[in-house]
Amino acid sequence: MSAHTSPVQGPKRVRVHHLAEAKARGEKLAMLTAYDAVTAAIFDAAGMDVLLVGDSIGNVMHGHATTIPVTVDDMIPAARAVARATKRAFVVIDLPFGSYEAGPQQALETAVRIFKETGADAVKLEGGVRSAPQIRALTDAGIPVVAHLGYTPQSENLLGGPRVQGRGDAAVEGLAADARAVEDAGAVAVVLEMVPVDVAARITEAARIPTIGIGAGPHCDGQVLVWTDMAGMTAWSPRFARRYAELGAALQQAAQDYVAEVKDSSFPDEEHSFDK
Ligand code: KIV
Repeated sequence: MSAHTSPVQGPKRVRVHHLAEAKARGEKLAMLTAYDAVTAAIFDAAGMDVLLVGDSIGNVMHGHATTIPVTVDDMIPAARAVARATKRAFVVIDLPFGSYEAGPQQALETAVRIFKETGADAVKLEGGVRSAPQIRALTDAGIPVVAHLGYTPQSENLLGGPRVQGRGDAAVEGLAADARAVEDAGAVAVVLEMVPVDVAARITEAARIPTIGIGAGPHCDGQVLVWTDMAGMTAWSPRFARRYAELGAALQQAAQDYVAEVKDSSFPDEEHSFDK
């Protein structure tokens, strides 16, 4: 099968109601980040249900240490490219740090701009009870929202870095209350990041909306990974990410072969040159 021939059955285009229908059927949702048109087209053809233009673009693609410096102006060109290249997947764009925390009005202005300029299907934002008014305002304006709970990278300074959240009775209750708050505010799905397996299972069972885990065990309604972790693009990847390929090493080898062939003049050869 060619890289751009989809093996996928199911809806021609994944729409918001398909997320809830998948949960009701017990069908898992597959989600991966994408930051450009090339990878978005490949992941879309592979049958990804959801593509996330994550603010992880900051550390994954732009060389920042965290997601905190990422701006709306960083997100928009990436989101446009992903949306343009996607035929089937539901495309979600992160609202970056500083673009929604001030309140519902700020969140609405950011999300409306993103919707008008990108072709996204939904936005994602971090926080539970504290972000519920923003989720309600966007939902009321017709903008689907995916919430993000557990380890929330935009709060990494407050959380003390990437650490498992929801350990201990009080933390579990807090997480469950956050999950209820985002669902009641109208969120269409919720990402659970770095949460103990049994806590994620409990939230998933209680929630009417799909939960999408990352480092949250196998009982969520779907899974998301940062694509470079999943594809082995870098030497290090988080403990919760399975490496489905070693593309970083393969790409370095290809680049080394190219350097060698340019240096020894074996490329370009006749086959890759034009007659007059
Ligand atoms: O930005 C991102 O990549 C994310 C995932 C970790 C869920 O939010």
